[in-house]
Amino acid sequence: MRLKDKVAIITGGANGIGKAAAEVFLNEGTKVVIADYDAESGKQVESQFLEQGFDVTFLQVNVADLASVKTMVQQVLSKYSKIDILINNAGITRDAMLVKMTEEDFNRVLDVNLKGVFNCTQAVVPYMIEKGYGKIINTSSVSGVYGNVGQTNYAATKAAVVGMTKTWAKEFGRKGINVNAVAPGFTRTNMVEKMPEKVLNHMESIVSLQRLGEPKDIANAYLFLASDESSYITGHVLHVDGGIMM
Ligand code: CAA
Ligand code: NAI
Repeated sequence: MRLKDKVAIITGGANGIGKAAAEVFLNEGTKVVIADYDAESGKQVESQFLEQGFDVTFLQVNVADLASVKTMVQQVLSKYSKIDILINNAGITRDAMLVKMTEEDFNRVLDVNLKGVFNCTQAVVPYMIEKGYGKIINTSSVSGVYGNVGQTNYAATKAAVVGMTKTWAKEFGRKGINVNAVAPGFTRTNMVEKMPEKVLNHMESIVSLQRLGEPKDIANAYLFLASDESSYITGHVLHVDGGIMM
């Protein structure tokens, strides 16, 4: 087991990539906290993993709300006394062409995808500094690296995640904390299901490996960046996109 007795918070762990990550980490001996807004799926996933004998906890949180994040972090500390790994995976889309994008949709995506990553990291990092150990993994996107039609708000947040990742790698390197990002390509989850079929087919056709990503493809990258095998890697953005653009 590569991460035995480590404690990991996975935001957005109730669905899609986060859920696959929870499974991958649990199988490596990690105690996993699924921190998600979606209580119905969260509780369902928690029971499913508990039945398999894993140490897993679902906590409802709105990452966009600092008070909610602080409460979640205190709940984790009172149960496990430490946090080794933070995966800032929660995210949303509100796609529209720039001329049609509402201020509300612009702000909502910033609140969750950008401020949510800031909130969770700021709430967790003092406890990692205290222990002199931590792995922070932020979820960017192919859209944040290359841009994407209809995603002004989303691409802005995912590019910002890259900037924050590199800044925090510089701030926390001397504290024993690695900070990296994963930039997934189009991956089979609820998020891509909302895309028009024509656009999704086009996206699949430009992937070198000629298929969409599976949630586990991304989860495996999270695992690598959380493990000791990547202990000399920090401030890196790992593209896990089947080779969309190079
Ligand atoms: N790439 C290239 N062309 C695109 C495109 C894209 N991503 N998205 C839309 N277009 C094209 C359309 O094909 C259409 O072309 P034509 O005028 O030649 O037919 C034109 O742009 C306008 O599109 P719509 O007619 O669909 O305009 P709309 O206002 O009804 O909808 C939209 C606009 C909401 C952006 C819709 O097209 C859409 O949802 N596109 C998909 C956006 C997308 O890729 N989202 C990714 C979601 S998954 C995710 O975000 C995960 C991740 O990190 C990658
Ligand atoms: P998903 O929609 O399946 O899961 C996202 C999870 O985040 C859900 O469980 C949702 O409840 C949770 N969430 C949303 N808002 C929240 C909030 N305010 N507080 C707490 N939890 C909240 O999406 P998916 O695809 O699993 O996405 C995971 C991450 O990967 C996101 O950051 C997304 O932007 C990113 N990503 C996804 C890609 C894809 O193609 N699916 C590609 C590139 C990046």
